[in-house]
Amino acid sequence: MKVIAGNWKMHMGPAEARAFLGGLNVEAVPFDRQLILFPPSLTLVSLAADPARDGRVRVGVQNIHWEDQGAFTGEVSAPMAAECGATFALIGHSERRHVFGETDEEVALKAAAARRHGLVPVICVGETLSERQAGHVDEVILRQLDAVIPELREAEHALIAYEPVWAIGTGETATPQDASAAHTTLRRRLVDALGPKKADATAILYGGSVKPGNAAELLSAPEVDGVLVGGASLDPHSFAQIAAAGA
Ligand code: 13P
Repeated sequence: MKVIAGNWKMHMGPAEARAFLGGLNVEAVPFDRQLILFPPSLTLVSLAADPARDGRVRVGVQNIHWEDQGAFTGEVSAPMAAECGATFALIGHSERRHVFGETDEEVALKAAAARRHGLVPVICVGETLSERQAGHVDEVILRQLDAVIPELREAEHALIAYEPVWAIGTGETATPQDASAAHTTLRRRLVDALGPKKADATAILYGGSVKPGNAAELLSAPEVDGVLVGGASLDPHSFAQIAAAGA
């Protein structure tokens, strides 16, 4: 089973999401592919409830606050997302970390909130270009992973997304070898921390300029259990092509 996830970021209002579902040919996607869409929170409500949504398309929230409720203007909480039909929560996406200053500690608190409310956390990690050039890839991604290990121990199910910051929205893609190397580093730490059974059950997705043209080789790279797609997930045809790639 490979996971094909689309992160719509701040794109796609409810009407565009409805049109997307109308254009998504789920039948062209092999059964061993798990589909997840991460729409903006305002769109999630109607997308999750849309009768045109095939049951194979699961829905996730892009970000949650760690508190269940309170005076946090502009935020949404895990129980609200769950009530609206989300089953997954992206946590610590690089744009949250680097544009909004989210820390490893906050990422861990959000992962805890997701777990408490039955949302499967999708923990995002990844190095910047300067960190890669300085040879610090493993150090950075393991620091980010270690911050959530206590939560991963408690969580029944979780996913990791390796998204090198320099590959996001740039057209630059990590080579399948780069992706495999980082995923192997992450997998080893998961095996040490969680044991082989749980580590193997934790899918590690690659994200960063995944397109129909490069999806097959990335999906067939060792230790790559799926992809997290930004720009190319906004078009139902390219999303379906990615979802069927290499199958
Ligand atoms: P792009 O596919 O647009 O590079 O975005 C990747 C990403 O950030 C997915 O979460």
